Amino acid sequence: MKKIDIIAGARPNFMKIAPLFKASKKIDKDLLNFELRLIHTGQHYDKSMSEAFFSDLDIPKPDFNFNVGSGSHAEQTAKIMIEYERLLNTDSPYLCIVVGDVNSTIACAIAAKKQKILVGHIEAGLRSDDLSMPEEINRIVTDSISDYFFTTTKEAGDTLIHSGIKEENIFFVGNTMIDSLQSNLSNFKKPSLYDDLSLEDGKYLLLTLHRPANVDEEIELERILDSIASASNDMPIVFPVHPRTQTILNGKDVNYSSIKFIPPQSYLEFMYLLKNSSAVITDSGGITEESTILNIPCMTIRDNTERPETVKIGTNELIGTDHRKFAPWFEKLFKSQWKNGTAPEKWDGKAGERIVKILQKLTS
Ligand code: UD1
Repeated sequence: MKKIDIIAGARPNFMKIAPLFKASKKIDKDLLNFELRLIHTGQHYDKSMSEAFFSDLDIPKPDFNFNVGSGSHAEQTAKIMIEYERLLNTDSPYLCIVVGDVNSTIACAIAAKKQKILVGHIEAGLRSDDLSMPEEINRIVTDSISDYFFTTTKEAGDTLIHSGIKEENIFFVGNTMIDSLQSNLSNFKKPSLYDDLSLEDGKYLLLTLHRPANVDEEIELERILDSIASASNDMPIVFPVHPRTQTILNGKDVNYSSIKFIPPQSYLEFMYLLKNSSAVITDSGGITEESTILNIPCMTIRDNTERPETVKIGTNELIGTDHRKFAPWFEKLFKSQWKNGTAPEKWDGKAGERIVKILQKLTS
């Protein structure tokens, strides 16, 4: 039986890998050509950023955890490469599957490829064309050395073809993150703080911020918060604070009557907050996809996106990073003039099954 490594390290990876385990379990053990080995790099390690997702999404316990923790990009990437190479030297798989665009993705893709192991990339072909984002560098490098490409949109496949990738190695499978959403729709869990904060369905905004460009400068972060608070018509704003953002806020006297600062939420609790919100304001990429499917208005505090379908046919609008220009978007929301979203092709909850079928063929 051929071994396939699945690499996960950071919060957004977990909902993308869960459907692979679920789909492979559906195949009769005797007919399965491969076994999955789960590697957790430990890039994210707080309970709320990692463990909570494993229980919510029913992901098996990792076979290995490198516990690399935080560090500069070079330190973090290097530590993961060293640990993974060490494992590959003693026990190497037939194929290494990486997902998304985080440092764990690029680190394991490089370590595997240099050991002549096949590499498959889930969520391949996305491009923001903004090299100031570490994720864009991770996407380009990972795609440039991968052997198999699993894409969420047709456009991502076209991007890969234009960069010289052979069409036969590109598989348009849909979006595994949306598989997780669909299969958990009825499991979303009301956080206990929902009642404590007197939240009411459809009567609050949800906010997430973690991109270095928005949060690493205290002044910029405060300007963003000021401007959201003043544009929001006194509607409560629920803000689960990412550890990176928390570090900047620590010890500062940030006090807004409408902004409710709360700890990072588990998957099922966060999705409950999203599904019942009036709108979400974010700088995350994944949330633009989830809000599109849930038909929740989404304002993205970025100037570009690697997920253009969320703007073209989804609920997402790029409101930019200039806090002075946010207000008109809120007016549009409060006048109930926000567009409706349509699901992109194949975002139907079956991406994991499609990938597993392809893995069966690749390992036969
Ligand atoms: C990473 C990804 C980003 C993704 C995001 C989701 C890269 C380059 N970036 O960014 O694409 O959108 O995850 O969260 O891989 N920290 C903790 N506990 C944790 C994890 C992090 O306290 O469990 C703190 C540490 O101080 C760390 C900082 O958060 O230095 C940032 O974590 P890191 O993994 O470097 O990047 P993210 O900003 O989370």
